[in-house]
Amino acid sequence: MFSNAINKSRIWKKLESHCKSMRRILMKDLFAQDEKRAEKFSLSLGETLFLDYSKNRICDKTMSLLFELARARHLDEKINAMFRGDKINVTEKRSVLHTALRNRDNHPIIVDGKDVMPEINAVLKKMRQFSEDVRFGRFKGYTGKKLVNIVNIGIGGSDLGPFMASEALRKYWMKGINCYFISNIDGTACAEVLSKIDPETTLFIVASKTFTTIETLTNAKTCRKWLVDALGEPAVSKHFVALSTNTQEVAKFGIDTQNMFEFWDFVGGRYSMWSAIGLSIAIAVGMDNFEKMLDGAYMVDKHFCETAFEHNIPVILALIGVWYNNFMGIHRYGVIPYDQYLQYLPAYLQQLDMESNGKSVDLSGDYVKYMTGPLLFGGAGTDVQHSFFQLIHQGTEVVPCDFIIPAISHNEMGAHHEILLANVLAQGEALMKGKTIKEAAEELKAAGKTPEEVEFLKKFKSFSGNRPSNTIILKKLDPFTLGALVAIYEHKIFVQGVIWNIDSFDQMGVELGKKLALGILPELQNKSVELHHDSSTNALIQLVRDLRE
Ligand code: F6P
Repeated sequence: MFSNAINKSRIWKKLESHCKSMRRILMKDLFAQDEKRAEKFSLSLGETLFLDYSKNRICDKTMSLLFELARARHLDEKINAMFRGDKINVTEKRSVLHTALRNRDNHPIIVDGKDVMPEINAVLKKMRQFSEDVRFGRFKGYTGKKLVNIVNIGIGGSDLGPFMASEALRKYWMKGINCYFISNIDGTACAEVLSKIDPETTLFIVASKTFTTIETLTNAKTCRKWLVDALGEPAVSKHFVALSTNTQEVAKFGIDTQNMFEFWDFVGGRYSMWSAIGLSIAIAVGMDNFEKMLDGAYMVDKHFCETAFEHNIPVILALIGVWYNNFMGIHRYGVIPYDQYLQYLPAYLQQLDMESNGKSVDLSGDYVKYMTGPLLFGGAGTDVQHSFFQLIHQGTEVVPCDFIIPAISHNEMGAHHEILLANVLAQGEALMKGKTIKEAAEELKAAGKTPEEVEFLKKFKSFSGNRPSNTIILKKLDPFTLGALVAIYEHKIFVQGVIWNIDSFDQMGVELGKKLALGILPELQNKSVELHHDSSTNALIQLVRDLRE
């Protein structure tokens, strides 16, 4: 099979040898040699989104070799297999069908002999009914008051998606409705939210695919007790709903399964914001807007399935990532949205990318012999220009960045937005061009520095440049565009998983720590329990026991 032969394949070798020549080449020279470079290396999705990928260390040959790599990995067949519902999550024997959740033309998708669309449509209908009933005060709290505090209790994919998306769409929130998110087991998360809300006007949404996650269940129990203490046990059915695949556990927890919104095993946690997990988004922004988000993602799904690799945005972003990770030796990237509403996008993408592709075993069960998922970090611009951008510009690490910005301002503060736009465009240019030592020296001289000062300072003031970035310009940040943007990243990550021949849809790496924590818990609760860990863990447990005496 392919598996570890990937990095021994002819195309991989061709890319390795091409990379040797590209290492010496400066992007600014490539721009000087080809006035059409920007045009050549940019794409748009109608008016929704524009991608400029010209500020990458690539040339025509790089891209054509990368497309050859994608073909050698049978990417087109793999895309079809995912959309068709094949069980491509091989370790868990599951289909991967978050795309079915936004299958807006409603064509049948058959899993195990059954079309999944009727159930998906039924849940969407139930979400519409319920979200509208809450928004317009038809579904009231136990004491007859309108539910205006929406508290999502979930973690990982059951938190980051709805949190990121509802924050991104804050402008669309219904007046009077407030969303809160409790994820961390740290009691502070719960205490802080509970201190701000009134039980009579609060709806708790317990979001958990498995309904066994300790953080979510502990937080949900605390919130349930808080509500019951205030309003009594019969109030629960008016203030608690569940989003899950696990009906039994929902019932066991004490939530009426009538109040449960279902989703299915073929929806991965980190790919679930399009499902019932998005209920808090739907209540905040309305189901019409939620469905516009699905429409945006669907547009990208079609683009991804139907467009030649040479013009395919997720494919191109993925291959450029592979180019850096596997050939240029750059194993990290930054996502920098220049938009306060998108400030949680990097955290969301961290789970999406790092939980999907942070793998070391390939689909045949062998250890991979090449790099897989990169490290991802980020934050909102311009804030991050004043924090970690020093390293991005002058550090010894090269960090390719995705800059994302809407062209149109959200508010009347157009002057602010112009400064924002100017900054994002300047960053891409500065990173690419840099500043030579000679240029730095001339500037210092012109600023009146002495020859000694010029000599000493010129290197500090220089910028190596040749640092890559993609620029993604959204016409406007709205539900449709957000859906499109997130789907682009989902598919980008999928493509990389295909190239690396890994299962992007399991997450076994999170299990070991969870299991050990369950063992340590009684050791902290009962100090007479003997400790049998390594000497470091034993000492740390003992220290905590002593400090809490
Ligand atoms: O611990 C990781 C994880 O399994 C994620 O993949 C998932 O999104 C999160 O926990 C929450 O899981 P659940 O929705 O089942 O509570």
